[in-house]
Amino acid sequence: MPGAKRVYLKTFGCQMNVYDSERMADQLSAVGYSETDDIESADLVILNTCHIREKAAEKVYSDLGRIRQVKSERALAGRDTVVAVTGCVAQAEGNEIVRRAPVVDLVIGPQSYHRLPDLIAKAKAEGRQQVDIEFPEEDKFAHLAERRVTPNASAAAFLTVQEGCDKFCTFCVVPYTRGMESSRSIADLEKETRRLVARGVREITLLGQNVNGYHGTGPDGAPWSLARLIRHLAGIEGVERLRYMTSHPRDMSDDLIAAHRDEAKLMPYLHLPFQAGSDRILAAMNRKHTAADYLALIGRIRAARPDIALSTDIIVGFPGETEAEFQQTLDLVARIGFAQAYSFKYSPRPGTPAATMGDQVPDGVRADRLQRLQRLLERQQTSFNASCVGRVFPVLFERPGRRVGQLIGRSPYLQSVHAEADPALLGRIMPVEISGAGPNSLSGVIRAA
Ligand code: SAH
Ligand code: SF4
Ligand code: F3S
Repeated sequence: MPGAKRVYLKTFGCQMNVYDSERMADQLSAVGYSETDDIESADLVILNTCHIREKAAEKVYSDLGRIRQVKSERALAGRDTVVAVTGCVAQAEGNEIVRRAPVVDLVIGPQSYHRLPDLIAKAKAEGRQQVDIEFPEEDKFAHLAERRVTPNASAAAFLTVQEGCDKFCTFCVVPYTRGMESSRSIADLEKETRRLVARGVREITLLGQNVNGYHGTGPDGAPWSLARLIRHLAGIEGVERLRYMTSHPRDMSDDLIAAHRDEAKLMPYLHLPFQAGSDRILAAMNRKHTAADYLALIGRIRAARPDIALSTDIIVGFPGETEAEFQQTLDLVARIGFAQAYSFKYSPRPGTPAATMGDQVPDGVRADRLQRLQRLLERQQTSFNASCVGRVFPVLFERPGRRVGQLIGRSPYLQSVHAEADPALLGRIMPVEISGAGPNSLSGVIRAA
């Protein structure tokens, strides 16, 4: 295409950022940009950033150093480069970024992505940096370009249904970077789901910072729960699998638990962070539940869906956490048994209440606890995977494997499964007998359907 422009997009952080990056790419495609992996050929560079832990946030500044070089090399060749920082660091640091990194032309918060093309034009016309980190009145989803129907796209996709968080856990920046909780309407989500299905998507993961707090307006004008949304989307032809993340234990309602029992398209997998096993620490985190509450909840979920695979998030070394309190985290993990889990060293974040609490745990202690916890979690994950050998799973093939003749797909329990398979099976669900299990993936053989 003559005059075609190129965008290089790098995504940090959670699945919601992955989703947002896709929506930005769709938006930019409508004004003539195509994506590139080669930063040197990019007219527009976007870093879609994450602020959750210090390491993630600092990575942005090291990347900007490298981008500054590319931009000046391109300038010598007479080519302009627009550099944009989007996402949660943009929202949290705003003007600080343009001050610290003059190479940046645009700083855009997560609620303003629909303004991206206008802001690029404005930065060029005015020849100065633009910062847009408001929480605008208008709804960005109503203004973003429609999802593109791209050939050969993956059979699995993300769909943001809810954004923001009002829970204010004392360690967390999300309520500040993503704003108040809000839910998209059922009609809007149904429309986007149909677009995704038309593109070949078979599995959809519904996203939200607090996805089970979803309460979007239904066609009857009343707020619908996540369970109702799931049942509604499951009724759309072509949707074969649904998942959701991330949930808060306080919002695991009875109807959502019942959906795990009744709704065949809802996969038997649940990511439900508990963060810590000590009630004193949970209270200091403002989680508003105890370890016993969490255990009882898991009991009810397992009663509804006995084979459900559980995943969680855990923080070690929250301010004031003693060795005995950390042991309570290990105990809770041992009692429940997780198929998968994410664990983190506590990272103090500017502006959050926990960052200024006394009794910060020394980094060496945090690192030691993380290592001990991860050993336990790895053992659990490995044994869960091993327990799958000999079973036959429906596997959705998503992408080619590293070896020729091999495809990689997903089991219902979200494990990667490698199998010898014809590329024509991409996007299809096939029965696979599991013959091998490693710590991070399974392998198997396709059985006749
Ligand atoms: N909205 C989700 C996820 C929030 S961020 C939820 O409520 O669970 C993902 C995970 O990062 C959190 O669950 C938590 O375990 C971790 N996390 C958040 N802030 C952190 C911090 N300051 N230090 C270390 N880990 C953190
Ligand atoms: Fe952060 Fe807590 Fe909200 Fe999750 S529930 S996004 S951890 S404040
Ligand atoms: Fe990071 Fe923002 Fe997601 S802080 S984890 S990108 S919501």
